Amino acid sequence: MTERSIFLLPGDGIGPEIMSEVKALISHMNEKDGANFKTDEGLVGGSAYDAHGQAISDGDMEKALAADAVLFGAVGGPKWDDVPYDVRPEAGLLRLRKDMALFANLRPAICYPALSNSSSLRPEVVEGLDILIVRELTGGVYFGEPKTITDLGNGQKRAIDTQVYETYEIERIAGVAFEMARARGNKVCSMEKRNVMKSGVLWNDVVTATHKAKYDDVELSHMLADAGGMQLVRWPKQFDVIVTDNLFGDMLSDVAAMLTGSLGMLPSASLGAPDEKTGARKALYEPVHGSAPDIAGKGIANPIAMFASFAMCLRYSFNMIAESERLEKAIATVLDSGVRTGDIMSDGCTQITTTQMGEAIRKAYSA
Ligand code: IPM
Ligand code: MG
Repeated sequence: MTERSIFLLPGDGIGPEIMSEVKALISHMNEKDGANFKTDEGLVGGSAYDAHGQAISDGDMEKALAADAVLFGAVGGPKWDDVPYDVRPEAGLLRLRKDMALFANLRPAICYPALSNSSSLRPEVVEGLDILIVRELTGGVYFGEPKTITDLGNGQKRAIDTQVYETYEIERIAGVAFEMARARGNKVCSMEKRNVMKSGVLWNDVVTATHKAKYDDVELSHMLADAGGMQLVRWPKQFDVIVTDNLFGDMLSDVAAMLTGSLGMLPSASLGAPDEKTGARKALYEPVHGSAPDIAGKGIANPIAMFASFAMCLRYSFNMIAESERLEKAIATVLDSGVRTGDIMSDGCTQITTTQMGEAIRKAYSA
């Protein structure tokens, strides 16, 4: 089997704990299934800052660019609250997204049957939920210039962030959303704030034009992003694919995550454009949740989103669809069996540790 390279960036907080569970699965697949994954590991976030004063080193950046796929844990924590803005832990993640040109962020929110009682919403609202948020990831207010704080000299300061989108950026993310929809429920809802933002006006125009030109077999609707957030908690099952910009996508995907019972459940894939010659895409896979410094090192973190992110890696980077589905099924089977990490614990279930959850998922995967 051809060699498949994966660059691991466990990061900070619970990142290393949940990553080591997936590492054990990778070793298992190499030994038992001849998967031929070759892994290398680097530092990102606060741990990279501690080692060399940067949120990710140039050397690790090069390895990320050269790998077939990057698996990312989480970054940040109170320890680095006061480090300079340019080298704060999050800067490592943002550099990876920008330098690898990972413009398409896929965030599926699936409510596992066993967890419909863990959501803060009524079970009938979330049972069977399966939506996909397609978030633009390399543009908008995250990267727009100017981005400054200026001292006005009169005791006042002025802060500026710039929301900026060009046609091609909206076209390509809309294209991803429509393609994804065709393989699912065939519906796309585009969210922006065209009632107050010029970038929202352009977003709406370009999504509409892209739809008309190439994807008019897909059902398209538009919502203002605030109303979209409201509809997500009112009746989320009305959605199939949601396409939105970088900042709205950040917020709406946290909302969507919580519908599924816990932030600890949601994976994501960040993809670049297919290479013109090989068709391969640069890709990074990460759980949507953060580094959870409050529970780091206690062995109680939920590794499911990390496993589910690896399942997305198997699907999108290695076209290992059967293995990806097997892993997703293993997660569901383990949840059905009634074991839970603390964040998704409920009456009548058995609470287990990170490692026990990892073992259970690997066992179900090999069964
Ligand atoms: C996310 C995170 C990041 C973001 C942070 C860590 C920079 O919240 O991936 O959703 O805002 O994009
Ligand atoms: Mg976020």
